[in-house]
Amino acid sequence: MLVLSKLCTSGIRNRITSKLLVLNTHTFCKLPSNNRSLSASVRLFTNTLKKNQLTFLKNATRSNQTVTVHFSSTQCKKSKKFVGSWLLLCSGMVFVAVSLGGITRLTESGLSMVNWRFLGEKMPLTQQQWIEEFEKYQQYPEFKILNKDMTLEDFKRIWWMEYIHRMWGRLIGVTFIVPASYFWLKGMLSPRMKLKVLALGGLIGLQGLMGWYMVKSGLEDRFDGPGDIPRVSQYRLAAHLGLALGIYAGFFYNALDYLVPAKSMPIDLFREHNISSKFSLLASKLVKLKNFVYATKGLIFLTALSGAFVAGLDAGLIYNSFPKMADKWIPDDILAFYPFLRNFTENPTTVQFDHRILGITTLTMITLVGCMSRKLSIPGRGSKAVVALVAFGYLQVLLGITTLLNYVPIPLAASHQSGSLLLLSSIVWLCHELKFVHRLPK
Ligand code: HEM
Repeated sequence: MLVLSKLCTSGIRNRITSKLLVLNTHTFCKLPSNNRSLSASVRLFTNTLKKNQLTFLKNATRSNQTVTVHFSSTQCKKSKKFVGSWLLLCSGMVFVAVSLGGITRLTESGLSMVNWRFLGEKMPLTQQQWIEEFEKYQQYPEFKILNKDMTLEDFKRIWWMEYIHRMWGRLIGVTFIVPASYFWLKGMLSPRMKLKVLALGGLIGLQGLMGWYMVKSGLEDRFDGPGDIPRVSQYRLAAHLGLALGIYAGFFYNALDYLVPAKSMPIDLFREHNISSKFSLLASKLVKLKNFVYATKGLIFLTALSGAFVAGLDAGLIYNSFPKMADKWIPDDILAFYPFLRNFTENPTTVQFDHRILGITTLTMITLVGCMSRKLSIPGRGSKAVVALVAFGYLQVLLGITTLLNYVPIPLAASHQSGSLLLLSSIVWLCHELKFVHRLPK
């Protein structure tokens, strides 16, 4: 499919964000007859084309191509800006929530609040209320085993950290739901976007529940051995982080769609009037790059999830050397757990080993994306996205190694966690720029 995008900003009566498909026929005879403003805008659009572009368009439609033309009015542009800015704000807030979550975990504050209410927990206001809240915390394993000597002042510090994290999550809910309802009622969302809004809203609600489900696992008495300490389940931590990354990517991708729509294939090639072999070759290289970029995105996501297992098992506090693990390429206790599969999610050595391998493989793929895209003219801002991807990829691995070598200090570990979001942002951006790259029909 060949995609030609054009923004037509004048002469249109109302908000039209339509896709016009013109198939194997004269270009403009298949317009919906009941939509005069749309046909008017198509005529206007063709008037703006140069002669050779028009010839190309006609050739394309005659030779079984599909040509897609996007139209939007000035008014639509304005509402797109509002919706896009709102989506960007939501993604920024999710970014902050993930960072806050990381700091909450690293400062061991996550188990300080032992109750959860959907609309918000009561904040202790008097000294007596603080003492009562502290007494509740004292019933749970984290206090009994790890924090026996904790003072009320220490407790207040970890309580505030967890409270801020939870309230920030609720603020995201409000920032999402109020504008979403307004845009919906005002007809500013396309049917497709409405579905996405429902999905994102559902995921935000699920994330709140998942957060509490995760905390609950840290409040239970579930210890593997005498040396074990109270901590949340690594499976639930990974699910909580994975959901957050999914929500973040969803907001960010759609924000880009609204604010900086992706461009079609390099437009100067249209000047060649027909689909030359040079164009086909370029297109197939771009398609290969796109597939590779999608695979890299999947790997980045998987590496981040495996990082949550490292964090959940405190696996960054063993084998603090790189590249070898205690002078060995493969440590002795890598398959110490039985049955075999448990090692991949419960054995700290295997979990750390896997995270290293995944991290290095991800970096190799990112480097290959950089090399593959060097000689290609990627549509839109694609080249800038590649530069960001490579830079954040190297930064992330550097931060990971430094975190490990220094026994997981809070600032480095928190930066490593936020780094994964920057890396994810750059690959989401690149995928967005490659959105209209499609295989050409033979
Ligand atoms: C593309 C590469 C990488 C990505 C996307 C990535 C991502 C992550 C993520 C998301 C976490 C979880 C943080 C949390 O939940 O708090 C994590 C943890 C961790 N990563 Fe990576 N990582 C990468 C490479 C590496 C490398 C190469 C190393 C070191 C060899 C490393 C060492 C660690 C350590 C030690 C932790 C645990 C930190 C903690 O306990 O908070 N990472 N990583």
